Amino acid sequence: KKKLQIAIDGPASAGKSTVAKLVATKLGYIYCDTGAMYRAVTYAAIQAKVALDDDQKLAELLTDLTIEFIPGQPEQKVIVNGQDATKQIRMPEVTNNVSVVAAQKSVRADLTKRQQEIAAAGGIVMDGRDIGTTVLPTAEVKIFLIASVEQRALRRYKENIAKGINTPLAQLEEEIAQRDYKDSHREISPLTKASDAVELDTTPLSIDEVVAAIMAIIEKKQ
Ligand code: C5P
Repeated sequence: KKKLQIAIDGPASAGKSTVAKLVATKLGYIYCDTGAMYRAVTYAAIQAKVALDDDQKLAELLTDLTIEFIPGQPEQKVIVNGQDATKQIRMPEVTNNVSVVAAQKSVRADLTKRQQEIAAAGGIVMDGRDIGTTVLPTAEVKIFLIASVEQRALRRYKENIAKGINTPLAQLEEEIAQRDYKDSHREISPLTKASDAVELDTTPLSIDEVVAAIMAIIEKKQ
């Protein structure tokens, strides 16, 4: 069977990473969470007290920044400059600032290159915002996952509660809507559906149903 590149894009909290991980496991493929890479840069910039919109300073920060993924259950570990930052990169301070960092030219150029290297050999499921449009424009399978803001906020709310983070639901809705707006309106590779991507609205679907729908699309390409 051919080792494919599978791109899964969509707005915040649409269920991309949950679904991408399950698809990767089924296929024995590598899973790459590109959002975690943008989060890692944001976290490192906050730590280093670099202004989050200072493209030049961020470029310098990136020259010796290392981001590693260590596979594991229930989640892979994200190691930033040798330190476990798995939890830190999901904190609200990072979540609410990541779109500013992700809009910077040098950050996008650097991380896009890293992502293309990770995906070069195929056998990869990569999730993000611009995978089908920019990072892997020739990916054999492109999925664009969407869901209502209400449902996405509710999912994030439940995840947060499990982690001991207590942000009101209405605030999460507002934050998600704002992040989508910024991600969709930035100048460089904004969040947008690739012309050859299959759009899936996950609002009425269970996780298993979404995975099954994606597997059916993949099987046709193998
Ligand atoms: O997927 P996740 O919500 O963790 O992504 C965090 C942020 O990283 C997004 O809101 C977006 O600003 C940025 N991002 C991006 N391009 C990607 C993946 C994530 O700009 N391919």
